[in-house]
Amino acid sequence: MSKICVIGTGYVGLVTGTCFADLGNSVTCLDVDETRISKLLKGIMPIYEPGLQEIVERNVKAGRLIFTTDYVKAVKDAEIAFIAVGTPSGVDGEADLQYVRQAAESIADLVDSKIIVVNKSTVPVGTGDWVAEVIQKRRNGRPLDLNVVSNPEFLREGSAINDFMQSDRVVLGSENRTAAEKVAELYAPLRCPVLITDLRTAEMIKYASNAFLATRISFINEIANVCEELGADVKVVAQGMGLDKRIGSAFLDAGLGWGGSCFPKDVKALAHMAVLHGTHPQLLQAVMEINRNQRRRLVYKLRKALGGLNDRTIGVLGISFKPNTDDIREAPALEVIHLLENEGAKIKAYDPQAMENAAQILQKVKLCDNPYQVAEGSDALILITEWNEFKQIDFNKIKELMNQPVIMDGRNLWDEKTLKNMGFQYFGVGRAT
Ligand code: NAD
Ligand code: UGA
Repeated sequence: MSKICVIGTGYVGLVTGTCFADLGNSVTCLDVDETRISKLLKGIMPIYEPGLQEIVERNVKAGRLIFTTDYVKAVKDAEIAFIAVGTPSGVDGEADLQYVRQAAESIADLVDSKIIVVNKSTVPVGTGDWVAEVIQKRRNGRPLDLNVVSNPEFLREGSAINDFMQSDRVVLGSENRTAAEKVAELYAPLRCPVLITDLRTAEMIKYASNAFLATRISFINEIANVCEELGADVKVVAQGMGLDKRIGSAFLDAGLGWGGSCFPKDVKALAHMAVLHGTHPQLLQAVMEINRNQRRRLVYKLRKALGGLNDRTIGVLGISFKPNTDDIREAPALEVIHLLENEGAKIKAYDPQAMENAAQILQKVKLCDNPYQVAEGSDALILITEWNEFKQIDFNKIKELMNQPVIMDGRNLWDEKTLKNMGFQYFGVGRAT
C-alpha cells in the first residue's frame, strides 16, 4: 500500500484522503487551517457531507488516516502527494494559483526522496508543467526525482463519497506513463475505467466537463424561459428530450441556474484561458450570461406578481447552492437575496444545513428556524434549493401564516395544480402561468 499525503482538507482533499484510507492506504491529510485540523482531530467534520463522518471515524480508528498541520510530518516520506487546495477566481476570472504554488514550494523545501506530485485541484491547462518548474526552481540545483500527474476530480458535493467510490472514470495525465500507472494502482479497487493522457489533455478534460454540464443547464433554462412565454412545460420537455439516449436526462433540470464553488469559477477560468490564447469563447460567454439572467428573471416575475418589491417581506427556502451541502459559495440564493434587498425587500430565510455559513454573510436577513417561521408575514415564498425537507411542507399552515399566498418555485419542486387548487398564486420555472 502506498504512503499518501493529501494537501488541503476541503471537500476534495478530505473526501479523497478518507476514501484512499478506506481502500487500505496510509494517508496523512494536511491543512494550513488550524481550526479545520483541530476539529478533525476531535472527530468534528468541518463540512456537511453525507456519510463522511462515519468513514473518517472508521479509518482514524484503524490508524490509516492522520490529520495534521505539520508539513514535515505529512510530506517528508510521502511517495505520492496530492495537491487539493482551492483555486478560486482571480480578479480577471483567471484561476488563482497562489495556494497551489505554496503547496508546491513546501514540497520542494521538504522532500528529498522520489515523489509523484498529483494535481487534484482544478487548474488551468499548463499548470502541471508549471508545478514541475516551480519545484525544480525552488530546489536551486538540489536534485529531486519528481514526476507530476494531473488527476482531476469529478465528485459532486452532497454525494461526494459515492461519486468517489463509484467513479464513472479516473483521468490521469502525465508525461511519464509509469508515474501515471503508479497513481492508477490506487484506484484499481474501484474497477472503473482509467484514461491515461498527457498532462494538458487531462487538465482540459476537467474544464471541458464542467463547462459542458453548465452549458446543459443554461440550455434548458433558456428553453424554460421560452416555454413560459409560449405555454409549454419545460419539465415535460426535458423528460421528452432525455428519453433520447443521445441526449440523456441528467442535468436538464431548469431552475435558478448553476452556482457553487466550481461551475462559476471554472467556466470563467476556461473562458479566460481561451481569450488569453486568441480564441473567442462565445458559447461560454452566453452560458454565463444566461445563468446570471436566470436569477434576474425570477426577481422580475416576483416584482410583477407583487406590484413592486419595496417594503415587501420575502421568504426564502434554501440557501446552500444545492441540496445536501452546507456550501454557500456562489449560491443562487445569495444573488437573489442581494437583488431583492436592492429593491427594498425584507428577507427571511431558512436552510436545513447552511445557517451557520449564511449567518456570516447575510447580515440583513432574518434567519429562521423552519419554513413556517419564514412564511409568517411573508408576501411571497421563494424556493431556491430543493432540499428533501421542503417536499413535505404543510401548505395549509403556510397559507394561514403568509401575508399573501404567492409562491415562486425556483426548482419546480412542488405540484402546481395542488397549490393552485389551495388558492396559491404559483409560479414555477418554464411553466405557463
Ligand atoms: P476548499 O476551499 O473546500 O478547501 C481547500 C483547502 O485547502 C482549505 O482547507 C485550505 O485551508 C487548504 N489550503 C490552502 N492552501 C494550503 C496550503 N498551502 N497547504 C495546505 N492546505 C492549504 O476547496 P475544495 O472545494 O475542496 O476544492 C479544491 C480544489 O478541487 C479546487 O481546485 C476545486 O475547483 C476542485 N474541485 C472541487 C470540487 C468540489 O465539489 N468542491 C469537486 C471537484 C474539484
Ligand atoms: C459539479 C460537477 O457536477 C462535478 O462533477 C464536479 O466535480 C464539481 O462541480 C466540481 O468541479 O467542483 P457540484 O458543483 O458539487 O458538482 O454540484 P452539481 O450537482 O453539479 O450542481 C451544480 C449546480 O448546478 C447547482 O447549483 C445545481 O443546483 C445546479 N443544477 C444542477 C441545475 O440547476 N440543474 C441541473 O439539472 C443540475
